Amino acid sequence: MRKVVILGATGSIGRQCLEVLKDQNGFSVVGLAADSRWEELLDAVVRHRPRFVAMVNPEASRCLAQALSERGCSGIQVLQGQEGVSKLAALEEADIVVHAIPGFEGLRSLLAAVQAGKTVAFAGKESLVSAGDLIARTMEVTGARLIPVDSEHSAIFQCLAGEDRGDVSGIILTASGGPFWDKSLEEMGTVGPAEALRHPTWRMGPKITVDSATFFNKALEVIEAHYLFGVDYDRVSVLVHREAIVHSMVVFKDGSVKALMSYPDMRLPISYALNYPARGQALTSQLDLAGRTLSFSQPDLLRFPCLELGYRAGRMGGTAPCFISAADEEAVRLFLSGVIPFTAIYPVLDLALSGYAPVSPSSIETLEREARRGKLKVREIVESGAWRA
Ligand SMILES: NC(=O)c1ccc[n+]([C@@H]2O[C@H](COP(=O)([O-])OP(=O)(O)OC[C@H]3O[C@@H](n4cnc5c(N)ncnc54)[C@H](OP(=O)(O)O)[C@@H]3O)[C@@H](O)[C@H]2O)c1
Repeated sequence: MRKVVILGATGSIGRQCLEVLKDQNGFSVVGLAADSRWEELLDAVVRHRPRFVAMVNPEASRCLAQALSERGCSGIQVLQGQEGVSKLAALEEADIVVHAIPGFEGLRSLLAAVQAGKTVAFAGKESLVSAGDLIARTMEVTGARLIPVDSEHSAIFQCLAGEDRGDVSGIILTASGGPFWDKSLEEMGTVGPAEALRHPTWRMGPKITVDSATFFNKALEVIEAHYLFGVDYDRVSVLVHREAIVHSMVVFKDGSVKALMSYPDMRLPISYALNYPARGQALTSQLDLAGRTLSFSQPDLLRFPCLELGYRAGRMGGTAPCFISAADEEAVRLFLSGVIPFTAIYPVLDLALSGYAPVSPSSIETLEREARRGKLKVREIVESGAWRA
């Protein structure tokens, strides 16, 4: 029996993970963590009966503990705060930790899991982007492993199985194009949060959905690929593929290209990460390619310039990925709360990164400081209106 902890259990990935586990044998859920939506977590706890739960918000964790006791659910330990989530990340009895916490907030728990030498089914890309070097160094010492859940990185991971890394000449990340692929820059100037949150292909949390609309999600994925697969930025490229059937590709030195295909369904990469190195049971119908046309095109950097920020921050190195990722979190928050228009996100981030001098990402405290600086810089630029120039 493989024992699973899910961090971010009430979110899009967390819920799909629980759905996958419901249909597969050989797993038991031993820990569930979330931020503050205790009623959603309660449902999952009642269904899966983990031994441990954790909520960041103390009031939410009190409500959850009370509700569990009223329902007679005994023997479940309720932890609270960021420390509680990190304790679950490092839980001794866990065989797999699913990390699905968005944003910089997920870093402490990812680091806790990696320090404890865990196998991590890993979705929280902002944490790896922010602290790629620190996490890689820690993994070398503890033997922890990251099995990607992001569909593109799972595809690359699967294409690399059995291959010599020295034979890889490049990685091609595919992008479905998001909700605004057909819109002109002028039209994008008037889109509001509701439209940005309506992704045509994937049902995801709000942060990643807006990032998909700006293409900043692909910028994060470029850096994620660099850290996960050890390829330099010149060898990571992006192709728009509207049908979302090819989830990414690996190019080999002999000119061969391997691609991973399936219908777009996040339960597949989740199941792969949970079952690795085996494969789980069928979750979707088998892909039927007859009569289908698959199309690929270059991303339009004039309309989606955020993609460039990933390459730029990645090549700057040091704390630049951490800074720009946190800056984006703040820009997305300001967009979703109606403070800035959609088309302000790129100029704000561009200005922030242009004036930034990265430092060595030596410790988590340094990264926390630089992430705070990234968010602060965005607020300064927005308040001054400098991005309009
Ligand atoms: N959704 C997808 O299809 C998809 C695909 C690829 C990669 N990803 C990546 O996976 C991560 C999660 O995305 P999502 O779409 O699942 O997000 P989401 O729907 O917004 O869910 C976020 C989850 O994290 C919890 N959470 C937030 N802060 C936390 C903290 N400090 N400690 C513990 N739990 C915390 C939330 O709890 P509350 O509910 O209590 O707020 C919720 O359970 C992101 O990094 C995203 O980029 C997602």
